[in-house]
Amino acid sequence: MKVLISGGAGYIGSTVGSACLDAGITPVILDSLVTGSRGFAAGRAFYHGDIADGALVDRVFAEHPDIYAVIHCAALIVVPDSVTDPVGYYRANVIKSLDFTGHLLRNGCQRLVFSSSAAIYRANEDLTVDEDSMIDPRSPYARTKAMCEAMFADIAAAHPLRVLSLRYFNPIGADPKLRTGLQLRRPTHALGRMMLAHQEGIPFLITGTDWPTRDGSGIRDYIHVWDLAEAHVAALSGFDALPGSVTAINLGTGMGTTVRELLVAFNSVADRPVQWREASRRPGDIAGAYTRITRAERLLGWRPQYSLAEGIRHSLRWAAIRDEAMPNGAPETVQA
Ligand SMILES: NC(=O)c1ccc[n+]([C@@H]2O[C@H](COP(=O)([O-])OP(=O)(O)OC[C@H]3O[C@@H](n4cnc5c(N)ncnc54)[C@H](O)[C@@H]3O)[C@@H](O)[C@H]2O)c1
Repeated sequence: MKVLISGGAGYIGSTVGSACLDAGITPVILDSLVTGSRGFAAGRAFYHGDIADGALVDRVFAEHPDIYAVIHCAALIVVPDSVTDPVGYYRANVIKSLDFTGHLLRNGCQRLVFSSSAAIYRANEDLTVDEDSMIDPRSPYARTKAMCEAMFADIAAAHPLRVLSLRYFNPIGADPKLRTGLQLRRPTHALGRMMLAHQEGIPFLITGTDWPTRDGSGIRDYIHVWDLAEAHVAALSGFDALPGSVTAINLGTGMGTTVRELLVAFNSVADRPVQWREASRRPGDIAGAYTRITRAERLLGWRPQYSLAEGIRHSLRWAAIRDEAMPNGAPETVQA
């Protein structure tokens, strides 16, 4: 089986490519390298260019007429950037995805797996969500994901294209074989800030201690990126058995982890403990959410295998070798 991965030189797309390879599936990568790393596509069929470039997409399909499905990971993903540059984000994520879909239809593509996000949901009172929870995206970035899902549903109703939206929660970790990982040196999510505090010997700030969670700190659903990647492999093999032409599946662990719990797990893995201080909420922060994973289990036969501690351990291992593994350098700081 052969699969085209847009954004396959990025953090998640490259891990999906590795999981495909390990499962005997051949990945073909299409990536503009706007945030991706050329090294992450090494040893894989790689097309350097934009998903909106019709001639390039035609060439990919002409040279790989046996592409079975497309996994569409390419996107810009920085929430604060989407607030300051909504035009750029709607163009990159919505308009280019629309153009891309047109190119895919022209080339006879019938199966599309879309990288969507948990950021499109409004959480229930108990901070859980499932696929039927209210769609209420709170940032331009999240709205681009919700818009793409709506757009794909309309297209799937009119064309022989079936679409699976995989709504990712909070990916952490790296390929356990350390082929790829997060490109960024200073990611600003909680684990990234914890790793920075560990590295620089400064206190980690627990920003917000009065959220309606069991210990007052924010809650997230940290899913190991390799588990995420394995879900894509399961989705490819089970694609034709999915019900209907449009399906959405949440990919998380099914367990919420608070920031304080993340810190305890981090300190159980790290060589020296990170100190911490309490601080007030940052503008735009939310209590967070975690998912029920019944649908992923039922439709994909998938369950995450890695623990939180393993995710943290793989993040730390990757950070230790990242500069060597990415000879062209890693971007300094972007919020994923
Ligand atoms: N990382 C997360 O926390 C997270 C959470 C939920 C959903 N997602 C989604 O997962 C997908 C992958 O995210 P990631 O974390 O790997 O980000 P990333 O920035 O590492 O990867 C995105 C890749 O897409 C490429 N790309 C962007 N625009 C392109 C274009 N127009 N043409 C060709 N290539 C293009 C980039 O060069 C990069 O390699 C995105 O769609 C993102 O919205 C990510």
